[in-house]
Amino acid sequence: MTELAPIAVILLARGGVYSAAASDLAQLAERVHEALAAQGSAPTRVQPAFADRLHPSLPEALDACAAARTVVIVPVMSPDEPPLRRWLHKLVMRWRAGRADGPRLVFADPLLQTPQLPEMLACTVRRSLALPDVAAVTGEDAWERDPVGWSSVPEHRHHVLWCMGPRCAAKGAVQQWPQLAQTVRETPALKKRVMLLQTSCQHPCNHGPLMIVYPEGVWYGPLAEADMGRVLTQHVLHGLVDEALRVHGPKALP
Ligand code: FES
Repeated sequence: MTELAPIAVILLARGGVYSAAASDLAQLAERVHEALAAQGSAPTRVQPAFADRLHPSLPEALDACAAARTVVIVPVMSPDEPPLRRWLHKLVMRWRAGRADGPRLVFADPLLQTPQLPEMLACTVRRSLALPDVAAVTGEDAWERDPVGWSSVPEHRHHVLWCMGPRCAAKGAVQQWPQLAQTVRETPALKKRVMLLQTSCQHPCNHGPLMIVYPEGVWYGPLAEADMGRVLTQHVLHGLVDEALRVHGPKALP
């Protein structure tokens, strides 16, 4: 049998808007730990990580696993797109640069290429045949219609787009989001004017963490936690563009 210990495992997923993504991955990490232990190869750690939208990021997960001799990174995401995979490899190489005594780093195959997956799904299909029909959604939010509120556009004058794509996430955008959301929530004048949205990659990743304010179309970055509330407030409430952090768009607002 291949000698596995001492190893650490990183389960790498794509993040989501809801907290279930984090709790599901944490539970899967526990089960993988148990499965490896049952096979006599208990890892030092099975660490969840996210390529975007949630944290810990991959570099943070690698920091947590740095004491292991080998770190196996298992992508549990689909699609496992080649451009993203290539960049993740670059991210790992940057983390390893300068760590002469760092662990060996291995990327596992894409999830959908797991050899046993078709058999596992076949078992799931067979088990599902014994399950009851889909339960009807009843009550105030019954299955026949969606909430009336989904027909109205919330009051706003500005769309503010905050990038949670992989490169911005690796630079701290995920950790900064709660502070930005709190600033808007707790500043009545901002709350009335701003519709704050998370986005995937907007392209100029080297300038991340990136914020774009419409309708003026001013792109700002890289935004440190200490700057983002001030830049947003200046723009939305006082009509001022922070020239030092402007990446693209008008230098002055009408
Ligand atoms: S990941 Fe944010 S601009 Fe690409």
